Amino acid sequence: MDNVNRRDFMKSIAAAGALASVPAQAAESNDGGPVFLATWKHGLPAVNRAAEVFHQGGSLLDAIEKGINIPEEDPEVTSVGYGGLPNSEGTVELDAGIMDGTRHRAGAVTGLRGVKTPISVARLVLEKTSHTTIGGIGLQEFARNMGYHPEQLLTPNSLKKWMEWKADPHHQTFWLSPENHDTIGVVATDGKGHIVAGCSTSGLAWKIPGRVADSPLVGCGFYADDRAGGASATGDGDLMTNYCTSVSIVHMMGRGASPQEACEELLRDMVKAIPKNKVAACAVIAMNTRGEVGAASMNPQFHLQYALWKSGKSQMLDSKDVY
Ligand code: GLY
Repeated sequence: MDNVNRRDFMKSIAAAGALASVPAQAAESNDGGPVFLATWKHGLPAVNRAAEVFHQGGSLLDAIEKGINIPEEDPEVTSVGYGGLPNSEGTVELDAGIMDGTRHRAGAVTGLRGVKTPISVARLVLEKTSHTTIGGIGLQEFARNMGYHPEQLLTPNSLKKWMEWKADPHHQTFWLSPENHDTIGVVATDGKGHIVAGCSTSGLAWKIPGRVADSPLVGCGFYADDRAGGASATGDGDLMTNYCTSVSIVHMMGRGASPQEACEELLRDMVKAIPKNKVAACAVIAMNTRGEVGAASMNPQFHLQYALWKSGKSQMLDSKDVY
């Protein structure tokens, strides 16, 4: 980002009264090599796998897909893929999306049943069709045509949790406060300005069948643009969809914000719009084309820890709680 753009962005947020609370520098800078950034602790094996695939000659899209496959296939991760908590009918419905910042094109799937790795099906939508998002019965057919045979995605643990929920006469429904929002979101660069972003989730536990939230929607759960950077969101997707979080962050970076400034400003803007968003479960990550990263959580009750791989090392880091 050139200095003129950055000055313009800083002026615009200062005019909006937000400058005093925005730090001047990006949270992390980069040495020019590839960088992999992911949400939550299940992001750590994901960034490690992504870096391995990339260093073995895979593309950045391959790296992100294979990285996200790790938590998707892990039955212990109850918010993504196999073992993810089901909808109110006891069926696991998975959402995922991946975007290539060079082609400015994404592939996404929503409500996918019977396939452990929805990010791979999203990748097939990107590579094999001219569509962007597929859902419903057609998606099941598409997955079958691509060679996927339906598998049981409930594990003994997720089935037990669903039966306990169902048996509780006061059980939580989609009307009540959300739980279990641990979407895996990954943003990466090859170190040469190319950006890819992707995310995958089983969504809100006990959701109404057919619910579509932010994760499979381009610009909401994920976004990548080689002209500015990439972003991903985790948390209450019913809420965050209304703020088009990821594209908003990328556009702020395009206007000169650092990734950290853009993440924080997005969350502040949500609160400016609706003050009670201050207590919402929302967190975001971002990376610019120089591999600088940012991460912010709305509040300490939904404190995001994120995984960062760069310069051959990976680590877990704490995002900034904005409120
Ligand atoms: N952010 C994931 C979801 O709400 O489904």
